[in-house]
Amino acid sequence: MLDQVAQKSKFSAYEYPHYIKYMGSKTKIMDFVIDGINDVYDGGMVLDLFAGSASLSGALRNQVAVHSNDIQEYSAVLAASYLTAYSDSKTPSSEEILGKAERIVKEHLHVVTDELKYNNIDGLENFNEVEKSNRYLIELKFDYDYHLFSKNYSGTWWTAEQCIWIDALREVAEQYKRSPVYPVIISSLMYAMAYTSQGTGHYAQYRDAKTISSMKDIMIYRKREVSHYFNRKYNDAIRDIPESENIKGHKFTSLDFSDCLESFDGGTVYADPPYCFVHYSRFYHALETIVKYDYPELQIKGGRIVKGRYRENRHQSPFCIKTQVGNAFERMFQGVRKSQSNLVLSYSKNGMIDIEKLEKLALEILGRKYELDLLSRDYKHMTLGRQGDRHRDVEECLLLAKHK
Ligand SMILES: C[S@@+](CC[C@H](N)C(=O)[O-])C[C@H]1O[C@@H](n2cnc3c(N)ncnc32)[C@H](O)[C@@H]1O
Repeated sequence: MLDQVAQKSKFSAYEYPHYIKYMGSKTKIMDFVIDGINDVYDGGMVLDLFAGSASLSGALRNQVAVHSNDIQEYSAVLAASYLTAYSDSKTPSSEEILGKAERIVKEHLHVVTDELKYNNIDGLENFNEVEKSNRYLIELKFDYDYHLFSKNYSGTWWTAEQCIWIDALREVAEQYKRSPVYPVIISSLMYAMAYTSQGTGHYAQYRDAKTISSMKDIMIYRKREVSHYFNRKYNDAIRDIPESENIKGHKFTSLDFSDCLESFDGGTVYADPPYCFVHYSRFYHALETIVKYDYPELQIKGGRIVKGRYRENRHQSPFCIKTQVGNAFERMFQGVRKSQSNLVLSYSKNGMIDIEKLEKLALEILGRKYELDLLSRDYKHMTLGRQGDRHRDVEECLLLAKHK
């Protein structure tokens, strides 16, 4: 039934609330991506194989059953906020959640001693001493649970006080683990973390105050209240979600792409793998940690914890490694072929692999059983595998493969 409905009307890009700032998010070109999916879709699930910020789940919600996958666990939480969250008579209000968190915060504020406070800063040197004192909390032994961010991240992207709020909200979230809005609570916390962070939208490096002007800018974020941003996003999100469960059958996994394809029964795969050498696990480790809340070992280099306080053994993607990317695409095309799925692949001409090489692989592996096409952002269809084609100048392309 769902397939029939979906086949007739196909899909459009619905508006959805944004929770995180995400490098490579397809939000801005979502219409283009969905046009590509409409070109090949002929029933079954849509598998978002590298879901990231789960923008596709946001845009497709209530239109088709989606399987959202990404190696990072935070992505599944974001996808669930879009796909399965709904409000009911037991849905907590933001006042209820924030009231509980505030009580916890009050019990823990004693950790923020005078030398950790930012209210009487009298210059750059003094500011940096306060920053350093905040960071020193990593040496402290805490006598209560839920202190992961206070211990590991005070004085980095957030202050100790902001971290106490982050930990408290994370603790309160657990009380709603069985509620359909549980992912919305965690996603709204991710939003609050993003907008109170002094960084530039990710968690690869926090900024140091080297000048008065950078100090002043960092201070703007140091003064922001986690509760304010949580409240804003949670209220927006609750207004936005349905009042009862809608389409059933969505699925969320945190698997490597090849394992995920192995278990996929067929449908349409949207693949948006990383394009460049930077690993998402480094840029978004703080999101992974707020979701897992597992007190990870932190990466050590030269006998010291690295400045970015990354998780030890974070994921290294083959799509970000020159010597592995060809093989990774090969495995991806094979997985698509094996499950007899259609494919929409996003890629950029500035990627880790030459477009020519990618096309050659697609032709070799999918060629005979698939109709292949390239779609540029100005909706021009281009021939695959022909050198000198116009698409060499195109930044963003979709490779479409429709099973015959
Ligand atoms: C370009 S981003 C996807 C962006 C997404 N389409 C959006 O709109 O937010 C690429 C994603 O691939 C994920 N990834 C990298 N290697 C992976 C692997 N081996 N298996 C599954 N996911 C992987 C990263 O965690 C990252 O979220």
